[in-house]
Amino acid sequence: MTQTEQQDGGGGVAGASETLTVTDNRTGQSYEIPITDGTVRAMDLRQIKTGDDDFGLMTYDPAYTNTASCRSSVTFIDGDVGILEYRGYPIEQLAEKSTYLEVAYLLVYGELPTQQQLDWWVNEITLHTFVHENVKEFVGGFRHDAHPMGMLLGAVGALSTFYPDAFDIDDPASREIQTIRLISKMPTLAAFAYRHIQGRPYVYPDNDLAYPDNFLSMMYKMTELKYEPDPRLSRALDILFILHADHEQNCSTSAVRSVGSSQVDPYSAVAAGIAALYGPLHGGANEAVLRMLRRIESVDNIPGFIEGVKAGNERLMGFGHRVYKNYDPRAKIIKSAAEDVFEVTGRNPLLDIALELEKIALEDEYFVQRKLYPNVDFYSGLIYEALGLPVEMFPVMFAIPRTSGWIAQWLEMTQDGEQKIARPRQIYTGDRGRDYVPIASR
Ligand SMILES: CC(C)(COP(=O)(O)OP(=O)(O)OC[C@H]1O[C@@H](n2cnc3c(N)ncnc32)[C@H](O)[C@@H]1OP(=O)(O)O)[C@@H](O)C(=O)NCCC(=O)NCCS
Repeated sequence: MTQTEQQDGGGGVAGASETLTVTDNRTGQSYEIPITDGTVRAMDLRQIKTGDDDFGLMTYDPAYTNTASCRSSVTFIDGDVGILEYRGYPIEQLAEKSTYLEVAYLLVYGELPTQQQLDWWVNEITLHTFVHENVKEFVGGFRHDAHPMGMLLGAVGALSTFYPDAFDIDDPASREIQTIRLISKMPTLAAFAYRHIQGRPYVYPDNDLAYPDNFLSMMYKMTELKYEPDPRLSRALDILFILHADHEQNCSTSAVRSVGSSQVDPYSAVAAGIAALYGPLHGGANEAVLRMLRRIESVDNIPGFIEGVKAGNERLMGFGHRVYKNYDPRAKIIKSAAEDVFEVTGRNPLLDIALELEKIALEDEYFVQRKLYPNVDFYSGLIYEALGLPVEMFPVMFAIPRTSGWIAQWLEMTQDGEQKIARPRQIYTGDRGRDYVPIASR
């Protein structure tokens, strides 16, 4: 059984009667601490003290690499085996059989919808795709060369000022309508940001179109009366949306939960998630992959490049993952979606470099030993480029579908009686009790 399964309570390894006995060698005293779901509660360590004036033992976990911050039933990952499930459904089945909006419903409500529920949901999302005209002017206020992710971040934060009812997070009806608004308006805001940097007029949503088709229409429509994307492209985009919808407690989701724990409105909490995703270590790796492939330039240059990676000069971008120590299940699906897209757009020569890199890396001892496999970012950038997107739009393409995951996690948090305002501790390493020195004497 893998560690992830134990943490998730899978297989019943850690029953409620199991305990951990800790002996404090400073005092010689022993403590028995319950183990639940393969986890001890950090607060149970606080009783371990050297004396009455001792604060009690804390745990030190920078970057929370071994700390569970919540109980969640949204997404399950087993990185050792390469499993990703939303609400228990394997990502492979969802990517093959479902649509992004159905998956968003699943994440938010916990169950796959009936036909009636799905019809209602799709209708609601479609009806809320328009934004207030002032939002359009707000986006228009950005510089012509503004980063679209920064624009999205600002625009989503600004939405909270348009929907003051969102502050009533204890009202289930308010939570539901904000959820619908966020999922439905995100493609509109993303497309407006794109059109702004292109200097093109904004395109309003077309309510006749499905979610991915409508997004492509808002991105690319020019003078035609109706924009109808190639169904293979909109399906590939929908699959990418499904694959990016949630990934449990990563940096941006933790940001949404942490900021949301202050009971701020969900637009502000999701804006925090977008800010986290803006960082190159989170939402920017597919851009780095594309730059790397362009730099390698041809298949002939791959052996020299690989030697450089093995010598530690640089990393093979799009390979390796903190959680997946096996083939990232999303990478397999994206690889085949890329082939479908290239059927429409023509083959991107960078794909040949990517395929050859993957082949070599999967056989090479250096990568095999370190369990470095392609991750979700290895092929997604190639698809985005084939869709005509500049690299600055890549993290935006990630933020659109991740909104359903963020909001599902936020909803779960608001209903979790164990949660309160997030407030980590610190180990203070600075000076104490210094006397103020007048500036002339320093
Ligand atoms: C994702 C990533 C940050 C995970 O890092 P991590 O879990 O902290 O793994 P480490 O950095 O400890 O790496 C472990 C070993 O593998 C090597 N390694 C990890 N990723 C590598 C890569 N992409 N290329 C070459 N070597 C790599 C490290 O040099 C290290 O080798 P060592 O043991 O000889 O020192 C890392 O694999 C990486 O930088 N990948 C490239 C960027 C990327 O694709 N990010 C997107 C993630 S979705």
